[in-house]
Amino acid sequence: MPVTIPQGQVYLDNASTSFPKPDAVAEAVAQAVRIVGLTTGRGTSFCEIDPDDITVKVRQMVARLINADDPQRVIFTYSATDSINLVLFGTLGEGDHMLVSPLEHHAVSRAAHHLRETRNVSFDAMPADADGRIIPERIKEAVKPSTRLACVSHISNVSGTVQPLRDIGAELKRLNVPFMVDASQSAGCHAIDVKAMDIDVVAAPGHKSLLGLPGTGVLYLNDRLQPAPFRVGGTGIKSELYHLPPELPVYYESGTPNVLGIIALESSLGFIFEQTVEAIERRHHELTARVLAALQERPGVSVVGPTDPAIRAPVISFNIEGYAPKELSQLLAEKYHIAHRGGLHCAPMAHEFFGTIKCGGSVRVSPAYLTPDREVEYFCEVLEELTD
Ligand code: ALA
Repeated sequence: MPVTIPQGQVYLDNASTSFPKPDAVAEAVAQAVRIVGLTTGRGTSFCEIDPDDITVKVRQMVARLINADDPQRVIFTYSATDSINLVLFGTLGEGDHMLVSPLEHHAVSRAAHHLRETRNVSFDAMPADADGRIIPERIKEAVKPSTRLACVSHISNVSGTVQPLRDIGAELKRLNVPFMVDASQSAGCHAIDVKAMDIDVVAAPGHKSLLGLPGTGVLYLNDRLQPAPFRVGGTGIKSELYHLPPELPVYYESGTPNVLGIIALESSLGFIFEQTVEAIERRHHELTARVLAALQERPGVSVVGPTDPAIRAPVISFNIEGYAPKELSQLLAEKYHIAHRGGLHCAPMAHEFFGTIKCGGSVRVSPAYLTPDREVEYFCEVLEELTD
């Protein structure tokens, strides 16, 4: 079938950042820039948009999303990396040990290597099956007396592997190891329940499946960990003190936050609740099954990670025989105008695990809830043309 290049772009790169955003997000941001001074805890709003009220509301919305009781334990950061770094650098000291999944992003793996060099922190991947899914009953093999934390990427940004959080959480609880989840690819599109899954810490970016803007991140911390603060400065309260006020969330929020990003999150979380996470997850499952089937039926195509849509998300990396990932990536971009991501995806651990490191990684497509069907169909036609 001949492929007709569509007008504009075909956006299949939601694992990098979500696009499009709900219309309400763009409208809320544009309106806020026009009518209000964008600060919180440091000024007064005389108009209908009150950043202080919105900040309180968004903490409540994030708490509701992950079934956490206390919105004061939802901290605004600038990215998922920022959230993760806060916890790792604030918790791990000389000689400590950390458990990770075999599929970590550099937000964790570079931080872990840095901590190894600077603080003699060691880390080990928990035993996993061939899809990269941790085997809960074997976690104990990797635990040491010095293990302070386990960090797991909920959905791999390379293979879309979904980790069995409930079973991992139950086992880590039994082993008395605090559990941090990197929800970069899952917050807003996949169920997270900190109580049912025994999760102590959740880190997420605002701009991926939470459908907000870059420059925002959230961190949920229960009372099990008390990381040292990463940033120290003005909090808008208790200015008479020369040390940080110990109360949450300000203890971790020095400096003016990304108020515009928080306003965007109010709209995007509103959209997510309106649609429901369950419906979004169902749609992601359909997209996964559709794209996987198209890839699996073409000759010479190899998919990275699980081939069963039930245990993966629509973050789908693949290679085509005869093309280096870089070459294929260039073709998808230049000839077919498909926004995607090629290479190692800031996650060489995952590519080492799946054996794709030597060939330079893979090409990744990641449709999502707001991707029009015709864009997915177009990708499938391109795939047919490339593998004919
Ligand atoms: N971590 C993001 C990705 O996988 C940026 O593309």
